[in-house]
Amino acid sequence: MTTYAIIGGSGLGKLQGLNERKSILIDTPYGEPTGDINIGEFAGQEVMFLARHGQKHRYAPHQVNYRANIWALKQAGADSIIAINAVGGIHHAMGTGHFCVPHDLIDYTYCRQNTFFNNDHEQPIPHIDFSAPYSEELRVRLIAALMAENFEFSARGVYGCTQGPRLETSAEIIRMERDGCDIVGMTGMPEAALARELSLEYACLALVVNPAAGKSSSAISMAEIESALKLGISNAQAVLSRLLGSAQKTS
Ligand code: HPA
Repeated sequence: MTTYAIIGGSGLGKLQGLNERKSILIDTPYGEPTGDINIGEFAGQEVMFLARHGQKHRYAPHQVNYRANIWALKQAGADSIIAINAVGGIHHAMGTGHFCVPHDLIDYTYCRQNTFFNNDHEQPIPHIDFSAPYSEELRVRLIAALMAENFEFSARGVYGCTQGPRLETSAEIIRMERDGCDIVGMTGMPEAALARELSLEYACLALVVNPAAGKSSSAISMAEIESALKLGISNAQAVLSRLLGSAQKTS
């Protein structure tokens, strides 16, 4: 049976409806994760939850210890990770409140610890295949849950991951659009690659919380993002509940 872990992004520091049995802080060779892993029953099955930014949103995207987080989840017994990420919408279909289940990504980040493979000079470095960065099986499950919940969503999309913490310039978004990005966020990488390095299934449920820079006539405000997060995150939890509830029936 698959053990699922959820990584909650902005607005999701706690998983509503998780009947928590225990909470563990795992020390890793890469330091401490951003918080405890909460383990308990959710939608009828054992699920793990980790808040990417810490429960009090203490870690900015470039400060998150992605290696410790992924390592700790693997150590705790997860084999499948659903990542929740708030994003800006680049493609015109990606309006506020829309969901996207990206099928590919482009990494624009820098200076992040992006691999587990840099300690041991005795062994040749393995190069993971990353031509399809997200698990297709998990994507299909997310898509089925979004359809069942009747939310507006795109079943494909390219996630452009920027360094942050500042938002992008309009020209950067134009460049990203030319590159083929549909959505922009700051936390999708190196998380996805690290999961692949540890052979964990990984997919992303992205929630659009604002039009990307230059895509609307006004500046992006935190108030607008926060208000989109309120409704969007409660919808995202309904998707998770649907996915995990049905995963239990089929496994
Ligand atoms: N850009 C980058 N990251 C984001 C955005 C954005 O517009 N919105 C939410 N996360």
